[in-house]
Amino acid sequence: MSFTLTINGTTHQLEDDQSTVKLLDYLHDTRNLTGTKLCCGIGVCRACTVSVQKGPNRFAEPVIACSTPLATLKGARITTIEGVAVDGNLSAIQTAFLDNFAFQCGYCTPGFVMAAEVFLSWLAVADVAADDLDALIENAIGDHICRCTGYVRYAQALHKVALEMLEAKP
Ligand code: FES
Ligand code: FES
Repeated sequence: MSFTLTINGTTHQLEDDQSTVKLLDYLHDTRNLTGTKLCCGIGVCRACTVSVQKGPNRFAEPVIACSTPLATLKGARITTIEGVAVDGNLSAIQTAFLDNFAFQCGYCTPGFVMAAEVFLSWLAVADVAADDLDALIENAIGDHICRCTGYVRYAQALHKVALEMLEAKP
């Protein structure tokens, strides 16, 4: 039996004996997608976060690639940091992280970007009051570890993009 994974818009066929491979190892070793970072390797720091949509009518969700076997992702659509910018144009949150000097070494940044992208894709269709943004942002990225301690600026940048999105809603 084989199964498929769609990564950054390209569908790949995998064999069942790859089911136990962790997503991060598959991305690095088979797809040469090394932008997703390995840090703790035990599901704590969230540096390895990618966006996963497990069905056509389901929201994207953040998934910890270092600890997630491919068996749980059969048929899923995965977006990694390499799939965020389009034709070399950074996304709104990538630009905001840069403009707000949110990171220093940048090792944790792909994970923060992917968690923020998941959050913003949900926010685009959610009915949310601006006053609730801080708590929602804490929920979205508060568990990510940044060893350069960029937490405040990451949160501020995401708040700015999220607020602009809310204000642009009809
Ligand atoms: S490297 Fe995956 S959670 Fe830390
Ligand atoms: S910017 Fe260095 S770990 Fe976050």
